[in-house]
Amino acid sequence: MHQNLFERFPLLSSVRMSTVDAIAKLEALRAEALEATEAAPDAAALRDTEIRYLGRKGPLAAVLSTLGGMEPDERKQVGMVANAVRSALESAVAGRRGSLESEEAACRLESERVDVTLPGRKPPLGHLHPITQVIDEIVDVFVGLGFKVADGPEVESDYYNFEALNMPRDHPARSMFDTLYVEPNDYGQPLLRTHTSPMWVRAMEANDPPLYVTMPGRAFRRDVADPTHLAGFHQIDGLAVDKGISFADLKGSVEVFAKALFGPHQRIRMIPHYFPFTEPSAEVYVSCFNCDGSGCRVCGKEGWIEIMGAGMVHPNVFKAVGYDPDVTGFAFGMGIERVALLRWSIGDIRWLVENDIRLLEGF
Ligand code: DAH
Repeated sequence: MHQNLFERFPLLSSVRMSTVDAIAKLEALRAEALEATEAAPDAAALRDTEIRYLGRKGPLAAVLSTLGGMEPDERKQVGMVANAVRSALESAVAGRRGSLESEEAACRLESERVDVTLPGRKPPLGHLHPITQVIDEIVDVFVGLGFKVADGPEVESDYYNFEALNMPRDHPARSMFDTLYVEPNDYGQPLLRTHTSPMWVRAMEANDPPLYVTMPGRAFRRDVADPTHLAGFHQIDGLAVDKGISFADLKGSVEVFAKALFGPHQRIRMIPHYFPFTEPSAEVYVSCFNCDGSGCRVCGKEGWIEIMGAGMVHPNVFKAVGYDPDVTGFAFGMGIERVALLRWSIGDIRWLVENDIRLLEGF
């Protein structure tokens, strides 16, 4: 140790032993104080260490207070070392304080951390009503085939609902539709449209052929609500008018629709029927998606499920809207609720309008 000191402080070799001792003490003090500083576990302990070694009653202060009684030479030597020890200690304390502070800050951050990775409480999310979902899906299919979408009035005139659709006054086919009238049932009074087909007429009046349009909306009939009937329900019609449109185009379009909605393996069949606004007319059936045609509860052992009315637009309808007689067109119309009931095996059409949230959440 002394050897070391002599190397570091060459002047020491010429001073008295007491100087050497004093410097050796200072060096020992430095080592001990530095060690204590580094070992201080927290700010309070560090403060104690600081006071113990650097305070007014500490060993360093004691050494410095004896400087006055020393020979100038000795004072110089010892003073130099004492000052060096003090500044080494001061910077060690400052360094230790800095690292304790950042350790403490890190600890505090850790303990105050809020775990935001937990899933929050989600407000209940709604979704589209099953009827809207079905409408959107059907519309998507026909938009994919190049059809536009049109909307029209629910309170309709006799003309659009019946007359222009080839059902003049007293036409027996009017009895197919149990009509709700807005005014007393005098001929020609406004009524609640009994189907969405009046939109064909409005669409053709507003556009020249070619015309490809699909028309979803509400319709109304004088029905008492039961598992398969509602007085207010939804339909979607489609109309394609162009040169050379044939029954084959109707069949192809309906087949694309049935496969898109009920599954790619579905087949369709068309059975002759009567509608005043189409000739020929058909009822379209889709093979039962539940039993694939062998007969089950869903299809009433038939193997086939009726999904829409369709046909070739009657020339009288073209006449009513002033279209050239050389165009042809097909049309179809179906009940949305019926598709929804089939799609989700819903047992009662009234569930769709009761707005029981527990039920609606299931779709
Ligand atoms: N509008 C008819 C109804 O509500 C159904 C229907 C629509 C028959 C379009 C069709 C047609 O022949 O082309 O009963």
